[in-house]
Amino acid sequence: MAFTGKRILIGVSGGIAAYKAAELARRLVSGGARVKVVMTRAAQEFVTPLTFQALTGEKAATAMFGPGSEPLEHIALGQEVDAIVLAPATANLMGKMAAGIGDDLLTTILLASTKPILICPAMNCEMWANPAVQDNVVKLRDRGLEVLHPEAGELACGAIGYGRLPEVETILEALAQLLSPQDLAGRRILVTAGPTHEDLDPVRFLTNRSSGKQGYALAKVARRRGAEVCLISGPSHLPAPHGVERLEVRTAREMLDAVLARFPESEALLMAAAVGDYHPTSRSEHKMKRGSPELTVHLTQNPDILKEVAALKKKQVVVGFAAETRDLEAAARKKLEDKGLDLIVANQVNRPDSGFAVDTNEVTIIGRKNLLLPLPLLSKEEVAEKVLDQVAALLPPPR
Ligand code: PMT
Repeated sequence: MAFTGKRILIGVSGGIAAYKAAELARRLVSGGARVKVVMTRAAQEFVTPLTFQALTGEKAATAMFGPGSEPLEHIALGQEVDAIVLAPATANLMGKMAAGIGDDLLTTILLASTKPILICPAMNCEMWANPAVQDNVVKLRDRGLEVLHPEAGELACGAIGYGRLPEVETILEALAQLLSPQDLAGRRILVTAGPTHEDLDPVRFLTNRSSGKQGYALAKVARRRGAEVCLISGPSHLPAPHGVERLEVRTAREMLDAVLARFPESEALLMAAAVGDYHPTSRSEHKMKRGSPELTVHLTQNPDILKEVAALKKKQVVVGFAAETRDLEAAARKKLEDKGLDLIVANQVNRPDSGFAVDTNEVTIIGRKNLLLPLPLLSKEEVAEKVLDQVAALLPPPR
């Protein structure tokens, strides 16, 4: 998990979105982080320190001086953590940061910290559009701080526009990126995910149990590590990962066309999609009627996308997945050779917690040069990290 063992400081300033910081704190704690919350005086008008203490197990820090404050907290707190996230960040807080003002515990911590800072603004839309606020945003970004764009929608004051705190999911992903090594920065990575649908008639199709989870996890983690990611997805209910370009396809032949179009500009291809091997030879124009007790459907083989694309490869790293129920290693090795791949991820799919549609996966990564890396049952994001470690090692130096 991106947050396991990480120490995160959440700075909460005084806006109505302060209540959403409680959910952020909860999610970080459940993701394995140790969370310390620092609140401005105005933030305490919207939500209490006790809320954060209950969620994080640590007393929220609220003041430089007075009962409960530690003498050197304003230096130590910002140094002890792995990253700082300001949610919500008000116009006032960003103005003080841009001007270098430290007049309370939070702003003083920010001046004394050298750790990565993620700013998540939330305010009225006119306030966000104000040139003074926009100037401050530019200044903060120029100093290397990450400032998210607020989301559009109905605001607490009734106005409609940009000013809502970004969704917790968006904040978590941006924070995960800030904490990740950027070893794939700028690398162009193509990922496929999900099943294909091969139509029998206008309402029926042949498909498989792939949910897209493993492919989406690869796309998400590659993006987190700095890559420019294009995700070619068969039908899936999953939302497009933040910052990833998603192309939606239905059939194996559509997936082939999309992969062929994007492969030449890519530096690596990871095919996690469960591509249908056959499609009905003819598609009925109208819904097929229930008739005789037996029905024969003729199928025609689909193209082998990986094999076709691997034959065109120049310097790209090409990775296949092999969903297997027996002879895992031998069957995967055969696909590695037959399809001309650099790596294959042999996927155990005959246990209930691994493979199709679940959140965990057990795989063995097999490569050409004596690479045999059996992995225990991991989350699909953890599997993605391990696969991308191998891809990063094989990529030629950036052009
Ligand atoms: O989506 P999830 O629910 O998270 O499930 C993940 C997964 C089990 C689907 C995934 O981890 C996985 O194993 N994907 C590959 C499934 C598969 O179709 O394996 P295969 O052994 O049939 O194919 C081998 C490789 O050839 C795959 O990379 C596949 O994308 C590719 N292929 C297959 C058929 C075809 N016509 N063209 C292809 O390119």
